[in-house]
Amino acid sequence: MGPPDPILGVTEAFKRDTNPKKINLGVGAYRDDQGKPFVLPSVRKAEELMMARHMDKEYAAIHGLQEFCQASASLAFSENSSVIKEGLNATIQGISGTGSLTMGAFFLRDFFKGNKEVYMPAPTWGNHIPLFKRAGFAVKQYKYYDPKTCGLDFKGLLEDISKIPENSVILLHACAHNPTGVDPKPEQWKEMSDLIKSRKLFPFFDMAYQGFATGDIDRDAMAVRMFVDNGHRIGLAQSFAKNMGLYGERVGAFTMVCNSKDEAQRVLSQLKIIIRPTYSNPPIHGARIAQTVLGEPELREQWLKDVKGMADRIISMRTRLRDGLKKEGSTRNWQHITDQIGMFCFTGMNPKEVEKLTAEFSVYLTKDGRISVAGISSNNVDYLAHAMHQATK
Ligand code: LMR
Repeated sequence: MGPPDPILGVTEAFKRDTNPKKINLGVGAYRDDQGKPFVLPSVRKAEELMMARHMDKEYAAIHGLQEFCQASASLAFSENSSVIKEGLNATIQGISGTGSLTMGAFFLRDFFKGNKEVYMPAPTWGNHIPLFKRAGFAVKQYKYYDPKTCGLDFKGLLEDISKIPENSVILLHACAHNPTGVDPKPEQWKEMSDLIKSRKLFPFFDMAYQGFATGDIDRDAMAVRMFVDNGHRIGLAQSFAKNMGLYGERVGAFTMVCNSKDEAQRVLSQLKIIIRPTYSNPPIHGARIAQTVLGEPELREQWLKDVKGMADRIISMRTRLRDGLKKEGSTRNWQHITDQIGMFCFTGMNPKEVEKLTAEFSVYLTKDGRISVAGISSNNVDYLAHAMHQATK
């Protein structure tokens, strides 16, 4: 019998619990302020439009819906970027973030000329590690999070990156780092970009949370765009699970930024050769939703509001949780709850405290002390503050 998944296994345990007060802060899935799953109004409208159009159910191309691929790349790099204008992107529709990362990892396995070593931040999203291992990479890590400050260990990060062997792959979280909620500042990204270039590393960005860090789609793409402007050729995995709430629809994209349009076409042809025996071609419904939301001006405007609304609700829950802990009488410094950004808070609770929180209060979270702030609502924030204080005092 294999062990349960460190993240999705938490949901399984949550479902078995009969305590009416139970809270699931394990998986990163947005809830509204009533604690209910949330379908974005822009997504609902896109689906209505699609229904009215009586569309067919034919196969997509091997690399997916072309219009979706273009819309997705434009969202990441911006309409006016050289990547889009000069056609430097080889973009495929992926099966959400995981599938897009996997196709990227398979492509690098087959075509990357350097070391089959990938360097990831410590810690990183749990699934990154087995995913790259399965693609044949040795996985190593560089310093990222400082438990003493619950912030970025920038000095350690630079030291470690400067020691990475040339021609290796480096994995970067584009924004709203998962699990820590700690991102480098723009000037720190610039320093990292220069260093990564001088080390001749290949930057592979995972952008699963565009819009969730600041509530602004363009600001959240800053690091990706900066690296490209700085002359890097990058790999980029995108997910629409979080920013469009399309979790179960499995909508994402993988892009290789190439040196020329011709190279991009050749890269795309090779990506198709990888996809065909893997899953043949991707599902169409979710990608049509994303393409409709991005392509219809009114829906796009609504979507930007939807994203901002989700990001703002999460920020307000951070404040309420921190204030709640203080009210409970906690003497710990919980400043990082509001300093960290995106969907997650890396609370700093140790495995014993996490265990107590789950066993005595039915609050479910991953063992590393990460909570999905998106799962906190007005209904449960006071109970959560109480439970966290009891588990940590
Ligand atoms: C998470 O980290 O909770 C999300 O990215 C969902 C997942 O698939 O793990």
